[in-house]
Amino acid sequence: MTDHWNAIRKHWELLGPPLRPPAQVVEAYNRELDLAGSHVVMLGVTPELAGLGASLTAVDESRDMIAGIWPGDTERRKAVRGDWFDLPFPDASVEALIGDGCLSVIGAADLRRKLLASIARALKADGRAGIRLYALPEMRDEPRDVRELAMAGGVSTFHDLKWRVAMTAIGDAPDHTIPVAGILEQFDRIFPDRAELSARTGWEMPVIGTIDVYKNSPAIYSFAPVSALIEEAKAFFDDVRVASTGNYGLAERCPLLVLRSARSQRQIG
Ligand SMILES: C[S@@+](CC[C@H](N)C(=O)[O-])C[C@H]1O[C@@H](n2cnc3c(N)ncnc32)[C@H](O)[C@@H]1O
Repeated sequence: MTDHWNAIRKHWELLGPPLRPPAQVVEAYNRELDLAGSHVVMLGVTPELAGLGASLTAVDESRDMIAGIWPGDTERRKAVRGDWFDLPFPDASVEALIGDGCLSVIGAADLRRKLLASIARALKADGRAGIRLYALPEMRDEPRDVRELAMAGGVSTFHDLKWRVAMTAIGDAPDHTIPVAGILEQFDRIFPDRAELSARTGWEMPVIGTIDVYKNSPAIYSFAPVSALIEEAKAFFDDVRVASTGNYGLAERCPLLVLRSARSQRQIG
């Protein structure tokens, strides 16, 4: 998978909300998790979130993402190489944990559960975690409606459009998964003329071209409904809720999954 992220790293500056968290999202993590006085563990190297907490440790498996995207270690923050599924922290030792879009970039439900179990193992009994979701709406969009909305200037950014297109291609796939190559194919079906899309929206061709990183990528993303993710999380946490992360484009599909009261390994069984 590191090749996939490495390719994304190269055009990181062309990415924007909702993929990269706007200021509203940073505030939401703070508001919902009260991070100011805590040591925070972050899944990934999201630069916009690196300032959260009294101190912060970012965990990412990719040396290149740490070197290329992480804003650098300081006295209060550092990035370490590690696997989210086997976090480099003792049992019940983490006060607060955050992760932006992580449940969508790891694949199917068995891996989502594995990540939730990994977070539950590492969190203190009174610890809390927040994961920003990319969630499938209960009412699905039709591809032609997404096209019309975009061509009418009703979609906030190209990255907002990319997720709307992806969510029209899920179909009845198990676990709401989609190979990223399938997202590109669906996009090219709905928007065969990129120059026309660029002219109608003002989005620059290099930004639209960021979707081509999906070509030949083995990565599998998932966009599960909030209801399904809450059910999955309830197997590992006694207190599960979602909170709004603001009103930026597609924010209604990007709520914060807030997790407390991790269940012990004995309880999880
Ligand atoms: C789009 S980001 C999602 C996380 C966050 N939004 C970010 O900006 O880092 C994907 C990052 O997650 C990392 N990653 C994916 N799966 C991982 C895993 N199992 N363990 C550690 N890092 C992982 C990739 O290396 C990549 O840097």
